[in-house]
Amino acid sequence: MTDPLLPAGLPPAFFPPTTPAAFSCADFGPNFHWGVSAAAYQTEGAHNLDGKGPSIWDAFVRGRRSIKRREHADVASDFYHRWPEDLDLLRQLSVSSFRFSAAWSRVLPEGTGAVNPKGLGFYDRLIDGCLERGITPWLTLYHWDLPLALQQRGGWQNRAVVGWFTDYAELMAKRLGDRVTNWMVLNEPMVFVGAGHFLGIHAPGKRGLGSFLAATHHAALAQAEGGRALRAALPAAAQIGTTFSCSYVTPARPGLPRDERATRRADALLNRLFVESALGLGYPVADLPFLGWLDRYIKPGDLDRLPFDFDFLGVQNYTREVVRYAPYVPLLWATLVGAAKRGVPHTTMGWEVYPESLYHMLRQFAAYPNAPRLLVTENGAAFPDEVTPDGRVPDFARQAYLQSAIGQVLRARREGVSVEGYFAWSFTDNFEWAEGYAPRFGLVRVDFETQQRIVKDSGLWYSRLLAGETVDS
Ligand code: NOJ
Repeated sequence: MTDPLLPAGLPPAFFPPTTPAAFSCADFGPNFHWGVSAAAYQTEGAHNLDGKGPSIWDAFVRGRRSIKRREHADVASDFYHRWPEDLDLLRQLSVSSFRFSAAWSRVLPEGTGAVNPKGLGFYDRLIDGCLERGITPWLTLYHWDLPLALQQRGGWQNRAVVGWFTDYAELMAKRLGDRVTNWMVLNEPMVFVGAGHFLGIHAPGKRGLGSFLAATHHAALAQAEGGRALRAALPAAAQIGTTFSCSYVTPARPGLPRDERATRRADALLNRLFVESALGLGYPVADLPFLGWLDRYIKPGDLDRLPFDFDFLGVQNYTREVVRYAPYVPLLWATLVGAAKRGVPHTTMGWEVYPESLYHMLRQFAAYPNAPRLLVTENGAAFPDEVTPDGRVPDFARQAYLQSAIGQVLRARREGVSVEGYFAWSFTDNFEWAEGYAPRFGLVRVDFETQQRIVKDSGLWYSRLLAGETVDS
């Protein structure tokens, strides 16, 4: 490593030999989108201000055992009030694209019906604020914060959610589509359905197969119908995408048939379910027979409405998963072997440091015959940061991870994968869902007591890359 900011001594996992040794943003071409990502509930705070209605996360965090240390995002990084300074900082850092989400219940406090003008006004001003600073806004419609009023009517388990969502999508398109070109329908459906409706560890805290299957089908339908609602209401130049969580999956014991089969099932569940339904390939029932029970929720005509012609797919990747056959896990017969158990370097989230996963997932998504272009709409790493006495945050591990992962994007591009953007997760430290504030993903440190921001060394590094410098490892 010759970069003066990167100390020798990081484990080799940070820099697999496949990572290009040096690159600059010019290597990605002039049309590549460089950005950072954020989400409403994780950053905005102002949970009950200016007419905002509560969301399922506002309710879930109040449950006694939901969130570590009983933290919540009532204030978070106070983006609702601090956005002008935060956008100034983005500009200062040469970041030209900013992905954020709108809080549905800020705009429609009841989820449907009356619009809250102050809520919509906030997104109006935020978008204008981006454009005034030369920053392109990328808007996600749904990043997990369903209006609580809609949960009280069954939420994602009620088929009516498809109509509620498309009405919201249409409203947003009509009100903001004159200035926002880049839209994303859903953020990581597999996570809000899996963690929120099967494991019960995210809002709304539902458990079991019944809620999982209902929410799966309705989210997949909403993904496509939401895309269609946007297309109908937006100008022709609009770019409509949606985003998927994904992790490269490999068998714990390569070559062992039962681990290989378990790996295939985990891949179908984690990486294929919502992508393939959107691309017109149906649900991966052949690999996951239990998905046959989705039939209970599928109405005539639904299967024709699951696909949508997205302009781009957002790939969101953080790690890989290692899978082992598990006879005691019904239906899946597979379990994930954590990084700590395998004794490999990992982040605060417990996720293995494995930058090549991003390359593999880009290849995997690009291999679908009708895949549209791809963008990495999230990628990053949580490490414990420290502020030095002179006020710096020397987060070498995050910087090294980002350098390597971005290098893996370049590797995929050089092999012909149509990947046209990279957004680091996250702009600032924020509320990491059930994990609270402990995992810090930001390029910018936030002191949650004082709301002071400090650009971490990784943020300075990213800024140098975006300004045209060559970075090497
Ligand atoms: C994906 C989610 O979209 C985001 O909200 C979350 O903070 C990051 N992954 C890190 O877990």
